Amino acid sequence: MDPQMLRSTFAVVERRAEHAVTYFYAHLFRQEPSLRELFPGDMRPQRDRLFAALTHLVDRLEDPDLPAYLGRLGRDHRRFLATPALYASVGTSLLAAFAHVAGAAWTTEAEKAWTEAYAHLAELMLAGADEAVAAGEPAWWDADVVRHERHGPDLAVLTLRPRRPLPFLPGQYVSVASPRVPRVWRTYSLADAPRPDGTVELHVSRVPGGVMSTALVHGTAPGGVLRLGAPDGALVARTEPGGQRAYICAGTGWAPVKALLSEAVEREPALKGRLFVVARAKELLYGRRDVERLAARLDGLSVTYITSAPGHPKDQATERLVQSLRSCVHWSAHDVYLAGPPGFVTEVVEVLVELGTAPDRIHHDALPPVSPFAVRPRTAAERLLGPPAPLWHNPAARAPRTGAASWGRREGDDRP
Ligand SMILES: Cc1cc2nc3c(=O)[nH]c(=O)nc-3n(C[C@H](O)[C@H](O)[C@H](O)COP(=O)(O)OP(=O)(O)OC[C@H]3O[C@@H](n4cnc5c(N)ncnc54)[C@H](O)[C@@H]3O)c2cc1C
Ligand code: HEM
Repeated sequence: MDPQMLRSTFAVVERRAEHAVTYFYAHLFRQEPSLRELFPGDMRPQRDRLFAALTHLVDRLEDPDLPAYLGRLGRDHRRFLATPALYASVGTSLLAAFAHVAGAAWTTEAEKAWTEAYAHLAELMLAGADEAVAAGEPAWWDADVVRHERHGPDLAVLTLRPRRPLPFLPGQYVSVASPRVPRVWRTYSLADAPRPDGTVELHVSRVPGGVMSTALVHGTAPGGVLRLGAPDGALVARTEPGGQRAYICAGTGWAPVKALLSEAVEREPALKGRLFVVARAKELLYGRRDVERLAARLDGLSVTYITSAPGHPKDQATERLVQSLRSCVHWSAHDVYLAGPPGFVTEVVEVLVELGTAPDRIHHDALPPVSPFAVRPRTAAERLLGPPAPLWHNPAARAPRTGAASWGRREGDDRP
């Protein structure tokens, strides 16, 4: 592979990312109309995930963890019934989109570099899928909703019973699909260590305008069914027994941390560590009862709750956390397990590195790839008027009644 050539072509493509995304999907769906059924109804560039992921990988080509990541991604792509022929089609459409927007930068050398790079990615993903098939792993797990507990207007704790055993490690997440928003998949952390009764727990915080989080918080009840992808994630690293560690979580970032601490209660009750639980406001500290239950069994764990002061902006909680982190010493001696919204994770990683924690000792899930459309330079009109308002839609208001819900609705059903 030729990372230099890939990056230089991509720099040109990125400037016309919106056209590239639109061209990519139009080309793909014309070539393979059956693939349209797999993608959400709303395919505007702001909501693109596959193209964003493909292009995001350009920055990771030299990452030694990339092959393992792609193997796991391929295993999880079995939920899309992705065959070798479909991988080839995605590759053809990716190259066609790049050729379309790159103009003179699309040289024979660039085409060769991209063809080789894509073939390499696809090969590693297909190898991961083959391994999962050989291990007898299902392509997805259907799970019955057995409990749905609301904590305030925008947060829910869901207990699910997968119909087949779902093996996972504490700290991992799964992709989740709901028949109420067909073909949309989002990732949620599993909020406990594996339980004897096989149930799993998800903590979902509703994002304003968010299709899946709204469906899970407001449109899901016991008796419903969700579909889960293969467990994955980076919070599977573990500190050597006796090693110092800190857990830092914000909002539903408590979910994977709860799983890690539940495991520690069984495996290393004498662990030495600190737990920082951050919430935008006191009433959003929904996990306090569990924090105290676990801390009571982990004598060496000191707990700090951090929220914004009443009436202060929500960012104050992060500022207070940063002050608190700065007042602690020996960050270089700690492993850190970090979970929360992407902006929070990015900011805390920067502070920890500044305070002396080695980057490879800070464990957190990969931040979701940002669509190149989202980072393209704004036009003068957009800078003046703000970016175009997205047409948010409220699936809860239009969701079919429970009995009518199905995994696939007609194309366009979930458009505004
Ligand atoms: C590894 C991983 C683990 C996750 N675990 C959890 C979890 O345990 N619990 C949980 O509630 N969520 C979790 N998330 C976030 C979750 O996957 C979804 O992104 C989130 O629920 C929003 O999805 P949506 O379909 O409702 O919103 P979308 O329809 O995708 O987005 C609607 C709008 O909200 C914005 N937005 C999307 N996500 C966020 C966010 N997290 N914060 C602020 N604005 C956002 C989008 O940019 C868009 O403008 C996790 C994400 C990752 C990558
Ligand atoms: C090298 C090739 C590929 C790479 C690197 C890749 C990577 C990704 C990633 C990282 C995501 C977002 C996370 C997720 O939902 O799991 C994604 C989503 C998706 N991928 Fe792939 N993928 C590839 C090939 C394919 C193929 C061949 C198919 C066809 C079946 C496919 C179908 C999808 C679908 C349907 C989504 C969800 C899209 C959405 O929610 O908007 N992908 N892909």
